[in-house]
Amino acid sequence: MSKWSGVLPRMAITQRSTLLLFALAWLGVCSSFTVIKDGASSLYFCKELDCPKFEEKYNSTAYQIRMYETSKWVSTTITGLDYQAATEEAFMKLFEYIEGENDQHVKIPMTVPVINRIQPGLGPVCASNFTVSFFVPFKFQSNTPKPTKKELFINTLGQEKVYVRVYHGFTNQTNFPKEAADLGDVLNSTQTYDKSYYYTAGYDSPFVSHDRHNEIWFIATDK
Ligand SMILES: *[C@@H]1O[C@H](CO)[C@@H](O)[C@H](O)[C@H]1NC(C)=O
Ligand SMILES: *[C@@H]1O[C@H](CO)[C@@H](O)[C@H](O)[C@H]1NC(C)=O
Ligand SMILES: *[C@@H]1O[C@H](CO)[C@@H](O)[C@H](O)[C@H]1NC(C)=O
Ligand SMILES: *[C@@H]1O[C@H](CO)[C@@H](O)[C@H](O)[C@H]1NC(C)=O
Repeated sequence: MSKWSGVLPRMAITQRSTLLLFALAWLGVCSSFTVIKDGASSLYFCKELDCPKFEEKYNSTAYQIRMYETSKWVSTTITGLDYQAATEEAFMKLFEYIEGENDQHVKIPMTVPVINRIQPGLGPVCASNFTVSFFVPFKFQSNTPKPTKKELFINTLGQEKVYVRVYHGFTNQTNFPKEAADLGDVLNSTQTYDKSYYYTAGYDSPFVSHDRHNEIWFIATDK
């Protein structure tokens, strides 16, 4: 794995190399399972990778309510029309950060989920803002390596109540807005949330084709 890691980030940004990066980021962690066991999560969909802690308040097939703890993330924002293109471009930059493009020159283990904060453009031909983030592993939460690329930044998600909907398969331009609309439909009038943005959260590499676990997150405003 290591002989590839230096070469791959310099490859041309093609769909194929990006897919490869997606897969390698996750595979790379498989080999270091034992190292990160301390902070590993017991949630089956976190697959023994570090993932942010939450307390479950409600769980049905229609939706869940979670109380997340404050957490640090490394992020980049892409403005565009295409969810998949934006996600892949952002993933590439974040991958370079975890591969060592940070002020501590350390390799950082892959985590889940990869979240994408979608701030929809106002109209079908207006660009949306996609902010894609990797969760910073527990051992780096307090002494977080700073990104060396200016498009990347470290941000904190506060303690939040989150409305969550689980869906399966591959996330694409067609299904995530539908899942978000469905989450909106199952919430009642007292369950309010910030309507200016929402998140997709992905827990699988693109080479996993079965039992893919994805989520839509709405940040509640009825604390
Ligand atoms: C919610 O319920 C499902 C189905 O019973 C279960 O698999 C899952 O572990 C529960 N909790 C979360 C956080 O998904
Ligand atoms: C995207 O972000 C830019 C810069 O912060 C902002 O000016 C713009 O209004 C945002 N667009 C949407 C659709 O939120
Ligand atoms: C989007 O994903 C859904 C569910 O995985 C699938 O049924 C649909 O064909 C996909 N659409 C496109 C345009 O890829
Ligand atoms: C909305 O749902 C919550 C949780 O089930 C419930 O406590 C509340 O009473 C409901 N509100 C309305 C207006 O139905």
